[in-house]
Amino acid sequence: MIKPHGSDTLKPLFVENEADRIALLSEAETLPSIELTSAAAANAVMLGGGYFTPLEGYMNLQDMQSVADNLTTANGTFFPVPVVNLTKDVSSLEGAKRIALKDPNVEGNPVIAVQTIENIEEVSTEVLTNVAEAIFGTADSAHPGVSTFLSHGNFLISGPIQVLNFSYFDTDFSETFRTAVQIREEIAQRGWEKVVAFQTRNPMHRAHEELCRMAMNDLNTDGILIHMLLGKLKKGDIPAEVRDDAIRKMVDAYFPENTVMITGYGFDMLYAGPREAVLHALFRQNCGCTHFIVGRDHAGVGDFYGAFDAQTIFDEKVPAGSLEIEIYKADHTAYSKKLNKVVMMRDAPDHTKEDFILLSGTKVREMLGNGIAPPPEFSRPEVAQVLMDYYQSLEEQTA
Ligand code: ADX
Repeated sequence: MIKPHGSDTLKPLFVENEADRIALLSEAETLPSIELTSAAAANAVMLGGGYFTPLEGYMNLQDMQSVADNLTTANGTFFPVPVVNLTKDVSSLEGAKRIALKDPNVEGNPVIAVQTIENIEEVSTEVLTNVAEAIFGTADSAHPGVSTFLSHGNFLISGPIQVLNFSYFDTDFSETFRTAVQIREEIAQRGWEKVVAFQTRNPMHRAHEELCRMAMNDLNTDGILIHMLLGKLKKGDIPAEVRDDAIRKMVDAYFPENTVMITGYGFDMLYAGPREAVLHALFRQNCGCTHFIVGRDHAGVGDFYGAFDAQTIFDEKVPAGSLEIEIYKADHTAYSKKLNKVVMMRDAPDHTKEDFILLSGTKVREMLGNGIAPPPEFSRPEVAQVLMDYYQSLEEQTA
């Protein structure tokens, strides 16, 4: 099986042994504590599950800047985004060697991890803004990832962590949430060798579905990992439980049995476009996947990125050999009225825009909200139904 990133074995930071976890929880009661940002808690979940192998904890300032500028940590480990614990107030941590990290996303703020403090560094807003600019390609606070990143605070707490639980992800999404360790195990159990991963934060429409099918056929894979983001999204995006339901119904109806693994991971969306695409590839390698699909405007938001920037970054900023996983680069995919099927636009050079069924996200939301299913060429009826029910429940709530 493909090796994890930068290591011969996965490095999940979750403390597997229950007695050790109990001991750490009692230690945590004696330690100073901070409440994490949602982003830092999501980093803990990803570190816990082995997704961020080979990292052993939160990065320090030197690593954060090096990752921002060169996509490598100070010691040369390839990594496309900072994995940090930024906070506003460290006054209660003076002299502390170990601290308890509390989960902001679970009632009662239970301890999610214990951190050994390597350093606490105050970072100026100017430096943070430069980091944001490097990662997101903009420092514009209208970008949801930038505004979130710059809202965390100016103190960077670095050092290794021991993770005690997976936040709300394994309780709220027990069917879907999986660690990288579990995904590797399941791929091995199924005997799959060539596996393509599909990242998504949306319900899957026909274009997404066909993209998966095209990748599976072109690459001749044993199966596909549909791997959905379960963490926080910007306002207006569709909640994970609704997407999960829609994806499951679509896969049940339209994919052969035993060719798809439907799974999810506990991370908040960064909307970092190209950099996030590289992160996405990295952690699918850690899951044991050999290929990763990057299509149009991957992990994008608004007009902040060019439609294929998330593909070109792999040629321009990812030195050969940094990652072993291979990228399946997909062109804009849509239903062709001429050919009566979903195609990649590059495969239909004689088409004009009018030959495709293209609906904007806004238009689709408006239709669903009014109880109108998008055409079957755009959305499977099963998917449309789940989404119409969701949008109508929203309207009932606000009525
Ligand atoms: S993302 O933020 O997770 O990238 P989304 O769930 O919409 O958003 O997309 C998942 C993957 O499908 C990404 O690789 C994206 O580039 C690709 N994709 C989505 N829609 C299309 C499309 N119409 N044509 C080509 N690729 C697409």
